[in-house]
Amino acid sequence: MSGNETRGPLTVVGAGNMGGQIAHQAALHGFTVRLYSRSEERLAAAREESSRLLRRRVEKGRLEAEACQAALERVTTTTDLGLAVRDAEVIIESVIEDREAKRAILCSIADHARDDAIIGTNSSTLPSSMFAGSIRNPERLLNVHFFNPALVMQLVEVVRGPHTDASAVERAIGFSRDIGKTPIVVEKESYGFLANRMLFIALQEAYHLAQEGFVSIDACDVAVTNALGWPMGPFELSDLIGLDVVEAILAEGHTQTGDVRWAPPPILAERTARGELGRKTGRGFRES
Ligand code: 3HC
Repeated sequence: MSGNETRGPLTVVGAGNMGGQIAHQAALHGFTVRLYSRSEERLAAAREESSRLLRRRVEKGRLEAEACQAALERVTTTTDLGLAVRDAEVIIESVIEDREAKRAILCSIADHARDDAIIGTNSSTLPSSMFAGSIRNPERLLNVHFFNPALVMQLVEVVRGPHTDASAVERAIGFSRDIGKTPIVVEKESYGFLANRMLFIALQEAYHLAQEGFVSIDACDVAVTNALGWPMGPFELSDLIGLDVVEAILAEGHTQTGDVRWAPPPILAERTARGELGRKTGRGFRES
């Protein structure tokens, strides 16, 4: 944890589960942060959720009450994108995982941002080269990929696009370290980058084993936690990530690669069709 020095400014665009936690992770490490969303309600919910998580750390004796308060005060919110990004040295985009939504917001960010700001997209599946042709000064654009929950998971994947400057990669690595994360460089873009590519193949195996009746969902989670040492089994983890997010990630893999091993299986698609999306709806593969 950093002391009282102020770093930044950092802007996080998108105040969903990931954006809110990324903003507060940086604030814990001394950054002044602007958090942007189109919606005041989203901003309020993101503040509320992150303060709940940080206050729990204080209760558990893992965080000083003053450091918690200081971190919460370092995050300001806005619904004005120009205001949000114009002073930032680092901008992390974390809006919905939708190609056109990302393209539109990345274009606006690049138009309003300083020329020397780096722009990291927290997309899991959409490589930054998909947007490089649409934005101003794409040499400062790259994927900076966090994991869920972003206040807890250490890894950040910094993915070099063919258009990305070496200095932007260096700065993204430095920034990730400065906010207390462990970055790695993924040298070339490919579907799923590194960690998700490995994780989602394992999830697919679990889905197929359960779907075809080899094991129950619960037995599979017991097996994977007890034999492989995962903190959560594949089905509990899917519920944490959100079944709609998992389905979208797999469908994007199928579209991008044409490889059927990424196709979303019925055991997943039938739940998302019923609106059973995991923890956020109280029911997914399991009740929560
Ligand atoms: N959000 C934020 N913080 C959370 C959290 C959440 N949803 N759930 C738990 N935490 C925090 C707790 O507050 C606690 O913090 P503290 O140590 O500072 O007090 C800490 O995590 C540990 O929590 P618990 O002791 O209550 O519970 P666990 O030990 O079971 O940990 C977990 C919970 C960290 C979620 C753990 O089960 C875990 O690591 N699960 C696997 C997560 C994972 O694999 N994520 C990667 C998903 S893939 C991805 O993100 C890619 C994307 O592109 C889709």
